[in-house]
Amino acid sequence: MKIGRLTISDRANAGIYADKSGPEIENVLSEFFQGELKFISRVVPDEMEKISAALKEFADAEKCDLIMTTGGTGISPRDVTPEATKAVLEKELPGFGEVMRMQSLAKVKTAILSRAVAGTRGKSLIVNLPGKPTAVRECLEILAPAIREGVAHLRGDDPHSK
Ligand code: MTE
Repeated sequence: MKIGRLTISDRANAGIYADKSGPEIENVLSEFFQGELKFISRVVPDEMEKISAALKEFADAEKCDLIMTTGGTGISPRDVTPEATKAVLEKELPGFGEVMRMQSLAKVKTAILSRAVAGTRGKSLIVNLPGKPTAVRECLEILAPAIREGVAHLRGDDPHSK
């Protein structure tokens, strides 16, 4: 499985702090998914065009099966990850954001401040996660079964499909 991970943060992009959330995506997915995982990574600032361009490159040129973003899903003026993601999605999967927020809320009362979205572009599954490394783990634990199944559907190796 080829996975593109995109960290969206003005400060990580400027080198003001180290990106811990992107590597955490790799850690958690490696724990949850068996088989060979090939990761490619990128850090971009909170800018619509740069985010959308990186998502398109991961989907269209790199042919990633799965694209995970972290950061920029909140309500600060610079948070535009959901808008930049929706601009490149072909099919939205509203349940990903709904269940992520609902189940996270039991643990973290601020979970509903995330506007994370998900969906498909071509054969790529694209999923937004919040920016904190702890949130990356909490949300991926919730979404891992649906991500695994969704990627299988898009690759055409869904055992239930005819
Ligand atoms: N979801 C989980 N599971 N754990 C968290 O710590 N943090 C929340 C929310 N979702 C959080 C979470 C907070 S405080 C914010 S502001 C939003 O995600 C948006 O985060 P982002 O702008 O870094 O994407």
